[in-house]
Amino acid sequence: MLRCCKTALCKEIYMERVERIGVSLDKPLLEKFDKLIGQQGYQSRSEAIRDLVREQLSEEKLEDSSADAVAAVCLVYDHHASNLMKKLTALQHSHLLQVISSLHIHLGEHDCMEIIVLKGRIGQIKKVADSIISQKGVKLGKINLVPTEIV
Ligand code: NI
Repeated sequence: MLRCCKTALCKEIYMERVERIGVSLDKPLLEKFDKLIGQQGYQSRSEAIRDLVREQLSEEKLEDSSADAVAAVCLVYDHHASNLMKKLTALQHSHLLQVISSLHIHLGEHDCMEIIVLKGRIGQIKKVADSIISQKGVKLGKINLVPTEIV
C-alpha cells in the first residue's frame, strides 16, 4: 500500500504516483455508501473506494491459477479420528514448498482447530488445500485465498 511519511521528498514522490478522480453518484446511493463505510469504520470515502477496487482486482486474480498467493486453510476435526493427525502431518511434510506455517488450537475435549498457511501459485495451493480438507474426519474445512500481486 502506498504511504507517505510527510517529508517534502516523500510527498513529492507520493503525489506523482497518485491520481485524483471525480466520481458521480446519485444521492440515495451515496447516502447508503456513507452509512455502510461508517459502520465499517472507514475514516474516508477514498480509503473505502481503494479497498473496493483492490477487492475486485483480487477476485479477478483468483481466477488465474498461475498467480502467486497465500492462503489460510482452517480445519476443525476430532483428534480421536483414526490416524487423521498423522495424515495431516504427513501431508504438510510432503508439501514443504507450499506449507509455510501451522497453528493448532485445542477447542475442547475432542475437537481441534488447525490453521495451515500455504504459499505458492493459486493452482498448487488449491490442490494441497483440497487434499487436506477432503481427509476423512475433517468436520469443517475452509480456504481463504489472498493473491499477493495486488497493488
Ligand atoms: Ni488439539
